[in-house]
Amino acid sequence: MLIDLHPEPADMARLVVEGMGRSPKQLPAWLLYDAEGSRLFDAICEQPEYGLTRTETALLEARADAMAAGLGPGVVVEFGAGSARKVSPLLSALGPAAYVALDISADHLAPACRALQARHPDLPVLGICCDYSHLDHLPDHPMLKGQRRLGFYPGSSLGNFDPPGALALLRQFRRLLGPDSRLLIGIDQPKAVERLEAAYNDRAGWSEAFAHNLLTRLNRDLDGDFSAADFRYRAWWDVAQSRIAMALVSQRDQEVRMAGRHWPFRAGEPLITEYSYKYGPAAFLELAAAAGWRGADRWSDPAGDLSLHLLVQADSDDQRSGP
Ligand code: AVI
Repeated sequence: MLIDLHPEPADMARLVVEGMGRSPKQLPAWLLYDAEGSRLFDAICEQPEYGLTRTETALLEARADAMAAGLGPGVVVEFGAGSARKVSPLLSALGPAAYVALDISADHLAPACRALQARHPDLPVLGICCDYSHLDHLPDHPMLKGQRRLGFYPGSSLGNFDPPGALALLRQFRRLLGPDSRLLIGIDQPKAVERLEAAYNDRAGWSEAFAHNLLTRLNRDLDGDFSAADFRYRAWWDVAQSRIAMALVSQRDQEVRMAGRHWPFRAGEPLITEYSYKYGPAAFLELAAAAGWRGADRWSDPAGDLSLHLLVQADSDDQRSGP
């Protein structure tokens, strides 16, 4: 079953206008994920340079029992579920009351929920198409009623929000999940600059195609007239900010139409498509604490590339798994 709460085109135009007014110009990262963008992102995840997905999947498979024990009973709510493949070992270990997948792309979410249902035939499954960062509350659905909520947010997607946005999102999760909830969240960590930059500049060109697809989407949904040939993709590590910046750089002075307005670009001017912030464990737990979460446990791969953190509400008196 699927509930559609996708933002209206008017909201999209408003957010785009707001982003184009920033310096540098920056668009909301969720716009990258239309059906084609979600497909391209899945291809990025399979590239040899992009280890995040493989490493996190292996960690989930290896430690699912311990993670399930830390989470306890309830309904699993996955934010930004995408293909909803990573969660399977956790669902098998946990046997939750239900699984609720939230994602911005309805075209991607429906087949993902069907495939998950085939892998877990007895599990009640609900898909909700929405921008979870702006959702007021989870729908009043029987699958969610009277159950503890266990948030799952893998893939280091928190890194695609700037630190104030990440703080707001962690608070938002706390609100959406409610009292006595848990949050299992995957966070990519800083590592050698060569590895980081290679991950976002894969040789096969999927990262570039993913960014360029944003222009195709803007042309289609907001009546834009971007020419992909006039914008070159670049991704670089910014050590001071602990983030990868991804941008489409204008190749000439030009004016582009979109959402009923005209936007000037200078040659060399970037349009930021996404940031990907990386947090070491201490920095992440500090951010989580500011949002009212307490670290209860943490699992990491042998190389220390990323961590899955289990968070509990800071004011909860649950001491089952102290840090
Ligand atoms: C979804 N998110 C965590 C990805 C990342 O690594 O920041 C998005 C991405 N964009 C290009 N490559 C990966």
